[in-house]
Amino acid sequence: MSVDEMPASGGFLAEGPVAGGPALITPERAALWWLPLEAVEEADWAGLETLLSEEEQVRSKRFHFERDRQVYVAAHAICRGLLTYCIGGAPQDWRFSVEAHGKPELVSPPGGPRFRVNISHTRDLAAVALTAHHDIGVDVEWLQRNAPTEKLARRVFAEREQETLAATPDDLKIDTFLTFWTLKEAYVKAIGKGLSQPLGAFSFDLETLRIHFDDRLADDPETWHFERYRLGPDHLMALAVKHPDRSRLAVDTTKAPLDWLRTLAAA
Ligand SMILES: CC(C)(COP(=O)(O)OP(=O)(O)OC[C@H]1O[C@@H](n2cnc3c(N)ncnc32)[C@H](O)[C@@H]1OP(=O)(O)O)[C@@H](O)C(=O)NCCC(=O)NCCS
Repeated sequence: MSVDEMPASGGFLAEGPVAGGPALITPERAALWWLPLEAVEEADWAGLETLLSEEEQVRSKRFHFERDRQVYVAAHAICRGLLTYCIGGAPQDWRFSVEAHGKPELVSPPGGPRFRVNISHTRDLAAVALTAHHDIGVDVEWLQRNAPTEKLARRVFAEREQETLAATPDDLKIDTFLTFWTLKEAYVKAIGKGLSQPLGAFSFDLETLRIHFDDRLADDPETWHFERYRLGPDHLMALAVKHPDRSRLAVDTTKAPLDWLRTLAAA
């Protein structure tokens, strides 16, 4: 779906931000924020940085290129912002553990649901996805016009995906390739394995957005919900959520509310 076709914000995120009440996020909900860096004004960066933990602030200073530093700051600021918007508390206080294959997992407040969050960043864009209990993964990619699509697909995609790509007109190949790629990354990030998971062991049908697993993977396609988005002319985004009953899952996707983040940073 193109973001231009998405409702402005008719979903549950319009109920927020929480103010001491119950969390906006439940096991039946997933929230997705994205932030195009062009929307961030020069004067915003210092404020966004204050939303990060001390450790993240230190890490952000190690980037060689300013562009990489900014996208890191944006991703971690909207991650902490979304957690605070949906659950409450101070953005800097959220803590993460690092699991096998490097997946950061939120340390949830005791006694409540286990909140799950995942971030993604690429050139000029950051995104974050949040739910409770279930595996969740998000991926954003820049539409790099000269990517070696078919050559790379032959190395890493499943056969049926390679066939779809080969049958795609030249001017649509990069879109199709990156649509597969973002969906695959969203899945491997949701299960936490990252690129240690062979990308050819599962495949997508782009019409139905259903996943198919080959015999190497003991996973149930019926429990997976996927979404794909086009964010303006330059970016694609995909979301993966594992849910025992997909029909009960409500996903709310919206551009990160910069005005609210500015207020949060100034508080
Ligand atoms: C995770 C991975 C798929 C990221 O892909 P990418 O497109 O380059 O990056 P994205 O911007 O989409 O995602 C990066 C974010 O995902 C998160 N992440 C890192 N590892 C992850 C994993 N295994 N699963 C899910 N999310 C992960 C992090 O928050 C990271 O951002 P940060 O470094 O700023 O905190 C890839 O880097 C990977 O496979 N890493 C694992 C490598 C591995 O197996 N290492 C083993 C040694 S522990």
